[in-house]
Amino acid sequence: MKTLALYHLKGGVGKTAAAVNIACLAAKARIPTVLWDLDPQGAASWTMSATATEAGKPKALWSGNAPIGDWVQETGRSNLSLIPADLTTRHLDIWLRKDDPDTLKQLLKPLSEHYALCVLDCPPSLSHLAENIFAAADRVLLPTVPTHLSLRALKQLLDYFGDNKLPRDKLRAFWSLADRRRGLHRALIEAPPKSMPKLLRAVVPYSAIIEKMGEHKAPVEDYASDHPAAEAYRLLWQEVKAELKL
Ligand SMILES: Nc1ncnc2c1ncn2[C@@H]1O[C@H](COP(=O)(O)OP(=O)(O)OP(=O)(O)O)[C@@H](O)[C@H]1O
Ligand SMILES: [Mg+2]
Repeated sequence: MKTLALYHLKGGVGKTAAAVNIACLAAKARIPTVLWDLDPQGAASWTMSATATEAGKPKALWSGNAPIGDWVQETGRSNLSLIPADLTTRHLDIWLRKDDPDTLKQLLKPLSEHYALCVLDCPPSLSHLAENIFAAADRVLLPTVPTHLSLRALKQLLDYFGDNKLPRDKLRAFWSLADRRRGLHRALIEAPPKSMPKLLRAVVPYSAIIEKMGEHKAPVEDYASDHPAAEAYRLLWQEVKAELKL
């Protein structure tokens, strides 16, 4: 099983939108996929019409004493399962041991019996959970808005990877919420800063069609497959598929 994380230190950059679209496109391509909503806000769970749970004993799960299978839900879509957000995961940073970043990686192992791809929708923070995500993911996808603030957050992440000797070669950026009417967006897309991690070709446009995912409770492909936004997610998925050799 390959693991793909949608991560950024900055909030509201399109992580959840990309996680849901990629997971649904993978499932449509008949790749058995599980989407894990690691953000207690539960936006991916909500978009997939699942409710964040407060049931179960998440502490038992995270300490390896309960099977992860109990948390997996069906989505009504072929080849797509979901591990919904758990409101108690906001305590994760207390449970996760600072000196052992491999807890998440161990938890994911049994899922490989059933799934070829796990997509992690991550919260925007640099925490013990983030360290676990960086250890578990084969690729960390960074949706980056073409603005100075978004690039600054990216630089902070790169510095963190450098300081902690983390594998920078897992990182892939792509432009997200890109608005070509804005001069700064155009300039950065045309001449990306050299310091950026490897940049994928897909550019996800700023578009009201993507905001409508909340209304349709579905990926863009389901209700606007001819729109450039759907095309951008298809290209992003193709690039991810090639990167992960799926
Ligand atoms: N390309 C886009 N164009 C326009 N709106 C978008 C786009 N992508 C996402 N949005 C909207 O922007 C908001 C934030 O998007 P999303 O939830 O995907 O970001 P996020 O990075 O996961 O945020 P958070 O850090 O809070 O988890 C949502 O309301 C979403 O509908
Ligand atoms: Mg999100």
